[in-house]
Amino acid sequence: MAGRYEGKVALITGGASGLGEATARLLVAEGGKVIIADYGVERGEAVAKSLGDKAIFAQCDVSKEADVAAAVDAGIAKFGRLDSAFANAGIVGVVGPIADTPMDDFDKTMAVLVRGVFLTFKHAARGIIASGNGGCIIGTASVAGVQGGLGPHAYAMAKAGVIGLARSAASELAAFKIRANSIAPGSIPTGMTAHVIAGDPNDLKTASERIGSMSPLGRAAHANDIAETALFLFSEGGSYITGQNITVDAGLTSGAGMSVSFQKTGMMVAR
Ligand SMILES: NC(=O)c1ccc[n+]([C@@H]2O[C@H](COP(=O)([O-])OP(=O)(O)OC[C@H]3O[C@@H](n4cnc5c(N)ncnc54)[C@H](O)[C@@H]3O)[C@@H](O)[C@H]2O)c1
Repeated sequence: MAGRYEGKVALITGGASGLGEATARLLVAEGGKVIIADYGVERGEAVAKSLGDKAIFAQCDVSKEADVAAAVDAGIAKFGRLDSAFANAGIVGVVGPIADTPMDDFDKTMAVLVRGVFLTFKHAARGIIASGNGGCIIGTASVAGVQGGLGPHAYAMAKAGVIGLARSAASELAAFKIRANSIAPGSIPTGMTAHVIAGDPNDLKTASERIGSMSPLGRAAHANDIAETALFLFSEGGSYITGQNITVDAGLTSGAGMSVSFQKTGMMVAR
């Protein structure tokens, strides 16, 4: 049986780790090929090597236009086409009270989370248009870009920007049969969250336990929950969806788990 991503090619920024790595592995398992674009050389090369001739690694700082352009071009030179892009590379960036925020750190955060995503959309659009088959671009946003209090200020601002860019790009790129969407994950145990929650990027166990204990669905999310969402949007299942932000957060931002007390009391509030 043909895979759900058979014969297609995707650029994945931040593909060396976490959500990007899980997505790269799933797309290859479903018949596709991937360009893993990341500034983590050792890990990126190892992930690409483990996927054999279905993957290449492109050393890439997403805030540098020449790097992003070269990653797209390397993928098309190797695989002959580009169908999808996952603008996913990210960092937590500057944290702390807004009144104390050092602006150099703010600028560095925006360089990765805003400029990097814009450059990925820009060059992916170029590559997908040139390939001529249509396609889909996804940006990784966050629940922090949907609701207040769920992340640092600069991060929240940048992630709201990712949602805005996907919506805006969708309006232009529909003419080329290219869809653009964003995915807003809740907390998922990866190096990034383990670093924040447990103080150690390798302590996924503690991160997973803490996240699971707060989840309305009673379990921590997996990186694969995002990979499956990205695959859905990239493939036939999502082929009529564009300009949308899909939250993958066990209902956290829609109030899941908040109405239990009302259900139990059976209280009638209106006649
Ligand atoms: N894990 C979560 O709970 C969570 C929640 C919401 C959103 N996100 C977002 O998901 C995305 C992936 O994060 P993750 O959790 O997989 O973290 P991660 O740290 O495991 O992966 C991030 C990857 O991005 C790469 N990267 C960082 N800056 C880069 C740059 N300038 N150029 C190229 N590559 C760069 C890193 O090397 C790493 O491989 C990020 O955009 C993050 O903000 C994560």
